[in-house]
Amino acid sequence: MCGIVGYIGLKDAYPIVIKGLKRLEYRGYDSAGIALFDGNNLEVTKTKGKVADLERVALEKNSKKGSIGIGHTRWATHGVPNDVNSHPHYSNSEDLVIIHNGIIENYEPLKKELVARGYEFKSDTDTEVLINLIEDVQINEKVSLEKAVQIALNQAIGAYAIAVFDKRQENELIVARLGSPLAIGVGENEFFIASDASPFIEYTSDAIYLEDGEMAKISLKEGVVVSKIKDGVAVDPYIQKLKINLEQIEKGGFDHFMLKEIYEQPHAITDTYRGRLLANEGVIKMAGIDDNIDKFVNAKRIIIVACGTSWHAGLVAEYIFEEFSRIPVEVEYASEFRYRNPIINKDDILIAISQSGETADTMAAIKLAKQRGAFVFGVCNVVGSSISRESHAGAYTHAGPEIGVASTKAFTTQITVLALMALRIAKQKGSIANSQYHYLLHEMEQIPSKVEKVLEQNDAIEKVAEAYKDSDNCLYLGRGFNFPVALEGALKLKEISYIHAEGYPAAEMKHGPIALIDEQMPVVVIATKKGHYEKVVSNIQEIKSRKGKVIGIVTEGDVTVKGLADHVIEVPETLEPFTPLLTTIPLQLLSYHIAVKLGKNVDQPRNLAKSVTVE
Ligand code: AGP
Repeated sequence: MCGIVGYIGLKDAYPIVIKGLKRLEYRGYDSAGIALFDGNNLEVTKTKGKVADLERVALEKNSKKGSIGIGHTRWATHGVPNDVNSHPHYSNSEDLVIIHNGIIENYEPLKKELVARGYEFKSDTDTEVLINLIEDVQINEKVSLEKAVQIALNQAIGAYAIAVFDKRQENELIVARLGSPLAIGVGENEFFIASDASPFIEYTSDAIYLEDGEMAKISLKEGVVVSKIKDGVAVDPYIQKLKINLEQIEKGGFDHFMLKEIYEQPHAITDTYRGRLLANEGVIKMAGIDDNIDKFVNAKRIIIVACGTSWHAGLVAEYIFEEFSRIPVEVEYASEFRYRNPIINKDDILIAISQSGETADTMAAIKLAKQRGAFVFGVCNVVGSSISRESHAGAYTHAGPEIGVASTKAFTTQITVLALMALRIAKQKGSIANSQYHYLLHEMEQIPSKVEKVLEQNDAIEKVAEAYKDSDNCLYLGRGFNFPVALEGALKLKEISYIHAEGYPAAEMKHGPIALIDEQMPVVVIATKKGHYEKVVSNIQEIKSRKGKVIGIVTEGDVTVKGLADHVIEVPETLEPFTPLLTTIPLQLLSYHIAVKLGKNVDQPRNLAKSVTVE
C-alpha cells in the first residue's frame, strides 16, 4: 500500500529517491518523506501530501545532501495522514531510521513494553514501534544492525517490506520482506531498493526480488548479502534480468496513465496472445495449462478468487469456462473466501486473479486453498509477484506495467488469458465442437483491431461525458457475459469521479433499482446483438417510460436501441463471449472523461492505492 525507495552509492541520493517515489506514488499518496545521510548528519524531511509537496519542503529546508537515502510514499493504515505519521521514522536516539510498507499487527503489546522501558513515541504508527524495538535489541544485546533487525522481526507479527539505516554503520542498508514486495537493483558501485523495479529501471536492469521471509544487508563493500529472517542462514541471491523499459512506465504523451493504458489495450491484448494463440494451426499453447492439463480436464470445480476489477474478470471467466469447458465455476471475493470455512475438495482448482500479484486477501485465499490440498493457478500481470510465486502454476497477462490506480488493460488482458485457458481445456476435453473452436480462435485474433475501432469513438464518448458529468448517480445494466462489464463500468465511474454508481444484471432492475429511475438518472445499458438483445431492449423501454436517460452500448448498425436511447456508442460485432473485451472500452473512456471534466485526480483517486497489501 505504500511505496518505498532507497539508494546507496556514490551519486546524490536525493534526485534518485524523489524520482523513484514519484513512480511509486500509485501505491499511496497521502504523505511522503525522505531520510538522507551526508556522512555526518542523518536528516529526515517529511510531510503530509504528495511527493511534490515533499520536494517543496526539502527545498525550503535545503536538505538534499547525501549519497545514502531512503524515501516513502504513504497510504495510511495506522494514524491519520499527517506530517508526524509520515515515514521515515527515527528511533528515540535518532541514530536509526526506517521506512515500512505493511502492518505490524502486534504493535500495541510491543509498544507497551517499550513504553515501560522508557521509550517515547511521537507518532501513532506501528512503524515507529518497530524501529524502537530494533534500537532496543541493539542496546540490550549489543549486536550489529543486521542482527538487531533479524531479532526484532522475529518478534513482529504482520506484513512488511522495510529499509533501515543506522548512522553509526553508515556504509550499509538493511532491508527485509514478509508479505510486501521488495526489489533490489544491482548497479555498478550503487544499489537501489524499491517496492517494484520502476524507480531503478533507468539505472540497471539487474534485480534481486527478495522472497518472503528474507532480509539483506546492502553495502558497497560486500554487495547484497541475503539471509533468512528466521535463523539468519545465508541465501544465494538470484539476479534477474528485467525486461521492462523506461518508456513503458512513462505517460508517452498522454495526459494520464489511465488514458495511456486504455489506448494500450489493442497492443496489450496482442501481447497476451503472442506465442499462445496460433489460430491457423488451431492451437493454443500455454505452458502452465499444458503441463497440468489432466488436472484441468478432470477438475470437478474451479474456484476463482480475486478482488475488485480482477473479481469482475473472474465473473466473465465463469461464463466462458462454463460455456466451453463445462466445468462448474464459483467466483469468490478473496476477502470473504479466506474468512469462512470453504469446502475445498482435492479435485478442485483455485484460480487466483490479480494484476499486481500482491493483493493481501487474494494471497491469503491461496494459502488457505493450498493448505486444504487444492491446486492453485495464478493469473497475474506483474512478473515475479508474490501471488505468481505462491501458485503451483500460472499464466501471466503480459499487459505491461499498469500505473493508473483504475485498472483498465489489466481487466481486458485477464479476460483474454482466461478465455484462452477455457478454450484450451475445452479442446482437450472435447466439450467444444471442432468447427466452433476454430471459429472462436480466428475471431479472437480480430479483437485487437476491433478494440482500435472502439477507441476511434473517443470524441463521441467525451461528448456523452459532458452531458452526464454533473449526475449524482448512475446505473449500469448488462446481461450474460456483459453483466460483469456493468459492474466494472460502475466501479470505474465511482473510483475516479466519486459519482455513485451501481451495476446490475439488466433483468434485476425491476426487482428494486427501477425505483431510482427518474429524469435525472443516467442508465448505461449494454445492449449488444445476440446477448439477450430483445430482453435488454424491453429493459430500455422500461427505463424510457420512467423518463430515465439511456446511454446504449450497441453493436454497429443497431437501429432499435438507437431509436430509443438518448445516446448510443457502437462497438464492432464479435462473438458473444468476446463482447466484454469491446463493451468495456467505452465505459472506461466515459469514466475517464467524466473524472477529467470534474477535475479529479484520475491516476491517483482519493483513498485508493494500486495494490492493496493490507487486509
Ligand atoms: C480497480 O480499478 C481497482 N483499483 C481495484 O479494484 C483492483 O482491481 C483490486 O484492488 C485488485 O487488485 P489486483 O488485481 O492487483 O489484485
